[in-house]
Amino acid sequence: MLARGPGAGIMGPVGLYARHVLPRLIDLVMRSRDVMAERVKLVPRAAGTVLEVGVGSGLNLALYGPAVERLYGLDPSPELERMARRRLRHVRVPARLITGSAEAVPLPDRSVDTVVSTWTLCSIADPARALAEMRRVLRPGGRFIFIEHGRSPDPAVLAWQDRLDPIWKRLAGGCHLNRAMDMLIASGGFQITEIERGYNRGPRPFTFLYRGIGVRS
Ligand SMILES: C[S@@+](CC[C@H](N)C(=O)[O-])C[C@H]1O[C@@H](n2cnc3c(N)ncnc32)[C@H](O)[C@@H]1O
Repeated sequence: MLARGPGAGIMGPVGLYARHVLPRLIDLVMRSRDVMAERVKLVPRAAGTVLEVGVGSGLNLALYGPAVERLYGLDPSPELERMARRRLRHVRVPARLITGSAEAVPLPDRSVDTVVSTWTLCSIADPARALAEMRRVLRPGGRFIFIEHGRSPDPAVLAWQDRLDPIWKRLAGGCHLNRAMDMLIASGGFQITEIERGYNRGPRPFTFLYRGIGVRS
């Protein structure tokens, strides 16, 4: 979650960074060509009523196809939500953006067919709780589409991830480099039916991807 500066009126450098710099940096990095190329591989497979957790600046919005009947985009950051709202005009389905956390999804049980999460589980403070919420709102047999970066299987890269994590999470809005996404998702009650793991382009501690689909058991 993007941290707010202390105090309501006067914002310190940390608050200014979180509110004005970080959202723009996130948008810039997340719309790089390599990242967009990953999105195209899975996001268009969403169908029915869709919940995207951590919708961010809305970079997946234009990728939802005619199989999507209704779309909810959830994110705790009002700054990113403003950017996503501008991208809503490219959305071909009824869509609603909600300011809130994946740890407390404001939707009824079993009301969603697909949950989408791209580069988001890394930043959620309590990912187990968020996965429990995603499972709660998904209907049985519903699908969880994920593209996440996380823990590398290479000991040398993992050592760097562990070393960089404490500073990185402060700079990058709570993002963790070393979460084992497949284990997290499976222990959240999803049967992983498709998964690809591997490095995207860029420095290896930041680019080990887990891309796939889990089915709500
Ligand atoms: C690296 S950005 C990725 C944004 C977007 N998913 C994308 O693919 O471009 C991480 C996102 O996680 C969001 N986030 C952080 N904590 C969250 C939470 N508790 N619930 C939902 N989203 C959260 C951030 O606001 C941010 O939009």
